[in-house]
Amino acid sequence: MSTAKNEEKKITTHTLQEMKKRGEKISMLTAYDFSLAKILDDAGIDVLLVGDSASNVMAGHETTLPITLDQMIYHASSVVRAVKRALVVVDLPFGSYQGNSKEALNSSIRIMKESGAHAVKLEGGKEVKDSIERILSAGVPVMGHLGLTPQSIYKFGTYVVRAKEEDEAQKLIADAHILEEAGCFAIVLEKIPASLASRVAGELHIPIIGIGAGGGVDGQVLVLHDMLGITHEFNPRFLRRYMTLYDDMKKAVGHYIDDVKKKDFPNDKEQY
Ligand code: KIV
Repeated sequence: MSTAKNEEKKITTHTLQEMKKRGEKISMLTAYDFSLAKILDDAGIDVLLVGDSASNVMAGHETTLPITLDQMIYHASSVVRAVKRALVVVDLPFGSYQGNSKEALNSSIRIMKESGAHAVKLEGGKEVKDSIERILSAGVPVMGHLGLTPQSIYKFGTYVVRAKEEDEAQKLIADAHILEEAGCFAIVLEKIPASLASRVAGELHIPIIGIGAGGGVDGQVLVLHDMLGITHEFNPRFLRRYMTLYDDMKKAVGHYIDDVKKKDFPNDKEQY
């Protein structure tokens, strides 16, 4: 168990690049609130992503599109207050960067200033290159995101595996190189064939973090609520569940309700 040792040093974008060089895999999970972020950081997670998946798992929206910049900053500042070691990366939400590079820069500055996070993430390839360069010019590290990009769900129409066809795979490879040249410190590849993801990780010098992209990449990310089994109806092939919290919590709450109804709680020792 290396947690105590891990606490000695904060993770930076440079640490992640060193990890890639020495072949050490990077662990990343989403986090949206103080209490759970503290558990993940204490457990030794390398990167916490304040993902716009908060729109789904925290707010109950069907897509990631509705979440606002103010809401992302609220989640991010809660996470930052809990973290001693992990690198905290925050998604730029839909509509906060696509307009132009100045908008992208202003949104990134708000995230960094108001939440205290360490980096931002945005979706897209060639089309967001200018924005990445402008954000970086202000000293803000940027993580890219290619493959299945949930903010474009209405363009694609489905959440199926991306880049299975040769032309889309070639575009993804080209976009990954563009993101690296623009200065991204890492890229998330979501739901693409493992062989393609592995090829990208082999060609690029920056870390490639996969979700549904196989084991040939430099690290893995999962949505916390999925891996803990809170979102029990979401069952993609790539998801490994480490807990069954939906069932366990439902059972616990059922016991509490019973105890209250039958006047077993509180007992004599549980009162003043
Ligand atoms: O918002 C999110 O949770 C993400 C991960 C799926 C990578 O972008």
